[in-house]
This record gives sequence, C-alpha cells and structure tokens, in this order.
Amino acid sequence: MILSAFSPLLKLPALAGLTRDTLLRMDPETAHGATISALKLGLAPQQGQPDGAELRTSLCGLDLANPVGMAAGFDKNAEVAAPLARMGFGMVEIGTVTPRPQAGNPKPRLFRIGPAQGVVNRMGFNNEGHEAAFARLKETRIPAALGVNIGANKDSADFVADYFLGVERFAELADYLTVNISSPNTPGLRNLQADEALKRLLGEVLSARAKARMRVPVFLKIAPDLDEAALDAIAETILATDLDGLIVSNTTISRDMVVGLENAGETGGLSGRPLFALSTRKLAQMRQRLPALPIIGVGGIHSAQSALAKIEAGANAIQLYSALVFGGLDLLDVIKRGLVAAVRAEGKTNIAQLVGRKTADWAEGRIGG
Ligand SMILES: Cc1cc2nc3c(=O)[nH]c(=O)nc-3n(C[C@H](O)[C@H](O)[C@H](O)COP(=O)(O)O)c2cc1C
Repeated sequence: MILSAFSPLLKLPALAGLTRDTLLRMDPETAHGATISALKLGLAPQQGQPDGAELRTSLCGLDLANPVGMAAGFDKNAEVAAPLARMGFGMVEIGTVTPRPQAGNPKPRLFRIGPAQGVVNRMGFNNEGHEAAFARLKETRIPAALGVNIGANKDSADFVADYFLGVERFAELADYLTVNISSPNTPGLRNLQADEALKRLLGEVLSARAKARMRVPVFLKIAPDLDEAALDAIAETILATDLDGLIVSNTTISRDMVVGLENAGETGGLSGRPLFALSTRKLAQMRQRLPALPIIGVGGIHSAQSALAKIEAGANAIQLYSALVFGGLDLLDVIKRGLVAAVRAEGKTNIAQLVGRKTADWAEGRIGG
C-alpha cells in the first residue's frame, strides 16, 4: 500500500503506473500487495550514499548504520527484507509471525483515513507461519539489522507457548526478536500486558532465549493505550528481568484524534499521524521509568521533525510504516537527511547525543499535549 518512490526506477511496463497516486487510488490491501510484488521484482530504489557517521547507532549491541527502521506489519512473511534494507533502513522488522499459518480477519480489513494521514487495520495476524518465514530468512542476508516480530495464533490454546516457539525458531536467525503483545486484533492478546501474565510470558520467553545458541536481544512491543499504573507495572516487571528493550508503540484503539472522519469508525488499530502525540507521550513516560533501557520509538512519524521529536522524547531508534503510505519511500531519505542536519545544527557529532533531551516535556504534556 505504499511507495511513491519507485516510479523513476520502474523497469517493467506493466508496473510503470505504480506511482504513489495510483497506489492511493487502489483498495489499500491490493495496493500493499502490488508494492510487495514490485519490491520482490527488484523495482525499488536503492540507497546511493552510505549513511554518515552522525547516524551510526548502537542498540543492544547491534551496530545500525542509521536509527530508522521499517516497522512490523509491512513485510509479514519476510518476503522483502533485503530490498527494504537496500533502500536504506537501518533495521527491518518482519512479522508478526505466528507458529501456524493463519488467514487473518475477513476483508476489507485495512482502511485509510486520508485527511488525517491515518490508517486503521484489523488484519488479525494474517501470515504464512513460522516455517515459511524461517525458510526465506535462512536464505537471506541483509545489509541492516533484521528483527523478527513474534506473536500467537488466534485459536491457540496457550498464547505463551506460541511465543516460546517463536523464540526457539528465530533466535539463531534474527538480530533481535520482538515479543508483540499489543495488537488489538487478536482477542485476549493484550491481556498479556497485565502484571502476572507479563511476568509469566517474559519468564518463558527469556528461558527459551537462554536455551538458544545465541543471546539474541529481545524487545517487548506495547500498546499506547496503557495508563500510568499499567506503565508502572510493566516497568517494574522489566527491571526484574533481563529483557533487552521496549518498542513503544503499537496501534491505538482510541479514535479521539479522528472523530467524524471517513473510516474512523472501523474496528481495529489506528496508526499514522494521528497516533504521533499519544505514542510519543507514552514513550517518554516509559523513558522516565527506565532511563537506561534501549527503546525503539514508533507511531506517527511522518517527517524529519517528528522523527527528531521521537528521539528527543527518548527513543534510541525509531520505526515507521503508515506515513510511507502517504509520503512514499522518499520519506526515508528526507528523515535521514533531517536527522543529520539536526545533529550538526546542535553542534553534536552523533544522533545518540540528542536522545531524551525533551523526555520530561513530552512525559508531562508540555509538548504534544
Ligand atoms: C497494516 C498494518 C499492519 C500492522 N501489522 C503489525 C504486526 O503484524 N505486528 C506489529 O507488531 N505491528 C503491526 N503494525 C503496527 C506497526 O508496526 C506500528 O507499530 C504502528 O503502525 C505505528 O507506526 P506508524 O504510525 O508509523 O504506522 C501494523 C500496522 C499497520 C498499519
């Protein structure tokens, strides 16, 4: 459903019309499928210049050429991790993958809220399952950090066991794993964020990791709809484990920011620009609770300024997805150039020096409130 940027590089006449405007006129899921097909055919732009030293970032021991990643949900089946990496993302997160293949919810299940540059999805973890993703990734080496985002089958008798299987399956292939318990589209999944359930889940996940040959970093991806008490409990649980990092956040079930707009009433998770302030505030509130923990900030990044704001709120690295639907892949370069300019303008040498310098303002609502 994205990508304006391939138009100058299209090689096949049949796909030559696949500009951003064409994609935006198509049904969103059809447009997404066309984009994945185009990427598989190699019809994507490739990064020209290597990233400058200003953007080089270390995250849980991973050496990233830049801190900007493709968020989970775009490449659910690990089909296009390599072309995405060659475009210049510093990390590419595939999935969510579940142990067994599943069809997801009935279509339509993906909606644009055009005037707000928002997206609502209730995909429901449509994916081909662990084995299909594993087989593809086994053959793939990418010039970026590879994240594998793991989840649970909707009809699973034991969600926690599904995460255990995910760690077992992907620990040796992934540069990092994401435990996604924040999708609103699998009934009951987000209950794993609650105190006792989270303790049990992290215990199992980290014991699976301990059995693996490699010590792969594990991130937990949380919802933006958690209140302060829930954030307290999650932070306390994390501090009692050796979880490596957090991803804040997944999509929101709130619609406050898009009231009255077409498709705002669709069930599912809202992402894109309307999610920016909420997800950035929750990120800052977690940063205050966990000053030393690596955090990836996601939600509503749509420009160089919003990418910088996410970092200043406390993100060590960032990811995006929805804005690419509206802005095309050119946005990746715009963001990276803007971050380099911001580092230089502040008289600094590296983006890490800007992390968290406005955490309190975001957490307490003086910015974005
Ligand atoms: C169509 C769609 C599918 C998504 N699927 C997943 C998923 O499978 N797993 C996951 O952890 N997040 C998923 N997400 C959430 C994104 O990874 C991200 O957290 C969220 O969209 C906020 O970022 P954005 O505003 O830049 O899109 C999905 C988002 C969209 C729009």
